[in-house]
Amino acid sequence: MNEKILRSIEGKKRELDRNRPLNPSIIRKLEEEFTIAWTYNSNAIEGNTLTLQETEIVINTGITIGGKTVNEHFEAINHKKGIDYLKLVVEKKEKITEQTIRNLHSLILKSIDDTEAGNYRKQNVRIVGANHLPPQSIKIPRLMSEFIEWLNENEYNKNIPELAADIHYKLVMIHPFIDGNGRVSRLLMNLLLIKHGYPPAIILKVDRRRYYRVLNEANLGRLEPYNDFIGRSIERSLIIYLNSIEPDQAENRMFINLMEATKYCDYSQEYLSLLARKGRIAAVKINKNWMTTREAIEEYIKTKER
Ligand SMILES: Nc1ncnc2c1ncn2[C@@H]1O[C@H](COP(=O)(O)OP(=O)(O)O)[C@@H](O)[C@H]1O
Ligand SMILES: [Mg+2]
Repeated sequence: MNEKILRSIEGKKRELDRNRPLNPSIIRKLEEEFTIAWTYNSNAIEGNTLTLQETEIVINTGITIGGKTVNEHFEAINHKKGIDYLKLVVEKKEKITEQTIRNLHSLILKSIDDTEAGNYRKQNVRIVGANHLPPQSIKIPRLMSEFIEWLNENEYNKNIPELAADIHYKLVMIHPFIDGNGRVSRLLMNLLLIKHGYPPAIILKVDRRRYYRVLNEANLGRLEPYNDFIGRSIERSLIIYLNSIEPDQAENRMFINLMEATKYCDYSQEYLSLLARKGRIAAVKINKNWMTTREAIEEYIKTKER
């Protein structure tokens, strides 16, 4: 992962830790918000058409949405249960095993495909839009046991943001299930992040194409864009947490549009847009517009000057 992104993440994580113990009511509210956003985005990436608001209604009230399929409703509810389960694993300090991953999958496909839920696939598959052909089904048990072994060996000797990116990448490459691999991989990545005191990273629906592109690039041996992409999602969640926890210091960290951001530097809006697209500054795309923070601009200028 790019040194700059890693340093920014580590700085923000230290700041979060300095604020511990965190205010329980603020954390509860953040967690509720993240649960909805994470569920909405992860499901939307795989094709679910519920909006963020509809996802919230289904999860929080149990009311159904007209015109949406039964499975789309199950997917929202199941994903929420997946998050509840992984939080329990963290709370109980359970070791991450193959069973943990299968339990997550079992929750994700429950009532949708009960014969496949929780089981490794017995067929060969391809991923639409990907340049990677997942391994033959017969190899999955061995690959999964090696994956868990690798995970347990590396959990305490590698930095967590990079390990989170690796976990997600390795699992989507093995593609152990007939469906739900993306959702389960994102859940497992966040299980690790949460376990180590980070907020969950959310891969945004609006970034779906970029997500697929960086995965394809990673398969061609260029891992940096993928790692930076994941790094930026971790950083974004930290910014949101810090803004809620330190509202008096949030001004520098509020997301602002690029026009406004030009006030804090000598760059044009177009150049800032390029920096955002390339992942050189902390940025998020909201309604097709890039947003960044004053702090991100200042950090960029500082490292440029060095
Ligand atoms: N080029 C690629 N290489 C590896 N994995 C990929 C690639 N492109 C997409 N993927 C992964 O495959 C997932 C889709 O697989 P799928 O089993 O349908 O999961 P889900 O149903 O949760 O979306 C994507 O979410 C992504 O994580
Ligand atoms: Mg799918």
